[in-house]
Amino acid sequence: MSRIHRYTGEEVIVDFELGRCIHTGDCTRDLPTVFDTKRTGRWVHPDGAEPEEVERVCGQCPTGALRCIDKSSGDPMHAAPQQNTIQIIADGPLYVHADMQVNGESEASGRTALCRCGASRLMPRCDNSHREIGFCDAGQVSLAMPSTELEERALSIRALADGPLLIEGPFTLLDAKGEAVCKSSKAALCRCGASKMKPYCDGSHDRVGFRAK
Ligand code: FES
Repeated sequence: MSRIHRYTGEEVIVDFELGRCIHTGDCTRDLPTVFDTKRTGRWVHPDGAEPEEVERVCGQCPTGALRCIDKSSGDPMHAAPQQNTIQIIADGPLYVHADMQVNGESEASGRTALCRCGASRLMPRCDNSHREIGFCDAGQVSLAMPSTELEERALSIRALADGPLLIEGPFTLLDAKGEAVCKSSKAALCRCGASKMKPYCDGSHDRVGFRAK
């Protein structure tokens, strides 16, 4: 876990984990009275909107970098996802919104962005390297796996050494337009960037000599 910056308001606390932020700008666009990078000094002002609004926007942070905490109880305020989803982002990462564990560790925010270009220095998480290397993939799914009935349980995500992300547990796969492609309980998703059947792994990681723990 990278360093966490804490911003305390009258009713809510906002924690910000800089190492996770990939600067999508969702928060600053949605709630500029709270999240404002143009102001000098601190950029998060938890009292700039109603607590429910701060909670809503933190809960939508796609990487889980923003977390909202109830000041009086100290409890996290994000709502559990109604269904586990993995969304492909065009030319970018996978956004996961789920009750999940990543490499055996619980993901308290319920959100994370996972690298699929192969270049992140923060594997398995995205660090925006896809922009540096000009990763190009529209995020459409040409080969949809057959859908299965989903059970209610958590998602396990494991980054296999020099290989794909192994997903075990119920999830709905969304394409880059946000449309549900299939429901599944097991998949190996490419994280080397070289698969010809993205988002799935096709074994190309061996061909390109992908190396990642
Ligand atoms: S991880 Fe990319 S093809 Fe297997």
